[in-house]
Formats: sequence, C-alpha cells, structure tokens
Amino acid sequence: MTAAAPIPHQKGTHMNTIRVGVNGYGVIGKRVADAVRLQNDMVLAGVADIVDDYRLQVAARAGLPVYAATPQAEGPMRAVGITVAGSLAELLAQSDVVVDCTPKKAAAVNKGMYEAAGVKAIFHGGESHALTGHSFVAQANYASALGRSSTRVVSCNTTSIVRTLGALRTAGLLKRARGTLIRRASDPWEAHADGIVNTVVPEKVIPSHQQLCSKSSRCRDLDVPGGVPPGLVSEHRIQDRQ
Ligand SMILES: NC(=O)c1ccc[n+]([C@@H]2O[C@H](COP(=O)([O-])OP(=O)(O)OC[C@H]3O[C@@H](n4cnc5c(N)ncnc54)[C@H](O)[C@@H]3O)[C@@H](O)[C@H]2O)c1
Repeated sequence: MTAAAPIPHQKGTHMNTIRVGVNGYGVIGKRVADAVRLQNDMVLAGVADIVDDYRLQVAARAGLPVYAATPQAEGPMRAVGITVAGSLAELLAQSDVVVDCTPKKAAAVNKGMYEAAGVKAIFHGGESHALTGHSFVAQANYASALGRSSTRVVSCNTTSIVRTLGALRTAGLLKRARGTLIRRASDPWEAHADGIVNTVVPEKVIPSHQQLCSKSSRCRDLDVPGGVPPGLVSEHRIQDRQ
C-alpha cells in the first residue's frame, strides 16, 4: 500500500477538496478509507478507532493519520508503536465530513459529537432510518441528500436491491418485485464465532430490514419478503422474480 502524504490544508479552506474522517477502521472503515484516497476531490483526514491490533497497525504503517477515538485507546495504541495523531475531537476539527463505520448502535452515540463539531456525518446500515431521517442510495435519491448534515447509507444488501430494481424500474421494465435474498451470515473473520455452516436459517421477521430500507430509499414498489442467511461466508446472492 502506498503511504499517504501528510495533509497540509485546514478544514474548509479549499472549496474543491473535501476532507473526510473515518471513525471505526474495521471491515467497512478500511474500505471507505481506501475509496476516499482514490478520489480526486477528497483527502483522508485520518482514521479513528479504539483498538490497537493489526487493523490500526497496518493503517499506521501505510502512513494514514491514526486517531484515538477514546482517551483510553491512546496509551495502548502508542504502546504497540502506533503514532497517534490526536483525539477524535482533533480528527473532527480536521474533517469536513465524517464517515462513521463503528459497530451498530455505537454510531448513534457519536452523532451528538459530530453535530457539536459542525461536521457532516454519514452513518451505515446498522443504524436506523430515524437516526438521520434520510437513507441514501446514490442511484435512487442522490438529489435529496444534497445540503443535509447527515445521512445513512443503507446496507449492502439493500443497496444492491435498490440499484438493480431501480434500474429496471427506470427502464420501465418493473412494476413490482418479489424476491428472496440469500445472504451470508457473518464476516469471514468472525465465522468461527457466530457463522453458520451448511445450513439455512430463514428470516423470522417480516418485513425484513431490506424491505424497510429499500422503501426508505424511495424504491417504494419493491416488496422483498425476507432474507435467508445460509451457510455462506464469502458472498451475497439475491434472487429476484418479477
Ligand atoms: N461488514 C459488512 O458486510 C457490512 C455491510 C454493510 C454495513 N455494515 C455496517 O457497518 C458497521 C461496521 O461494520 P464492520 O463490519 O466494519 O464492523 P467491524 O467490527 O469490522 O468494524 C468496526 C470498527 O469500529 C471500531 N469501534 C468500535 N467501537 C468504536 C468506537 N466507539 N469508536 C470508534 N471505533 C470503534 C472497532 O474497533 C472496529 O475496528 C456495522 O454496524 C454494520 O452494520 C457492515
């Protein structure tokens, strides 16, 4: 991985470059950080987390500015050789927008801190629609996200459903969809803890979160009755019937 160069300008001083902070550098956060670094109009202000393990050590070695998301996290980070650029508050002071990639429910606690710092915030599908009042899928409702102080990117399942069925609807090929979502049960690295192998567990709660999220992203014709997590650890599958 190429080392990130130090970032010179201050928050808000360059109209065309958006400074992005990432809070939570796990499965999603590291991908968000990589994606930000590939954009011409964004710079990665830094990443924050509470752990000091391989995830943050790799980030530090790659030259990313690493911040301690809590005061307690800073000492252990330094102890394993991570150069700590500062606190989460200091990362927010360097950011125009923060992408919160912390686990479900942690992000909701952080929202007040982002608002107090005057930083726009993007949350993830683990949080509820009510947290921001806006659920984002670029192809479906980009325009309504403009100017907002926060939004929530729906889950990967929902994003793929809305993208696929939204494109069919835009092309005039879809009136109503009824589908079965077959998704993996956990991330590969935690499959030993709560993954299920060689079995199928039907979704017990109808409507599924995918159906609710799809509707909140304005793909209102969509009716996805339920998700079925089988014993897959490496892929999602979506079977749609029109
Ligand atoms: N993994 C997926 O496929 C996936 C897909 C879509 C959405 N999501 C959502 O994204 C969120 C993040 O998921 P993930 O898979 O990246 O989780 P993860 O556990 O891999 O990463 C979460 C990171 O946040 C850190 N963290 C925990 N508490 C924190 C705090 N208070 N402040 C800062 N950092 C903190 C953890 O140390 C960890 O590095 C989840 O809520 C999930 O619902 C995950």
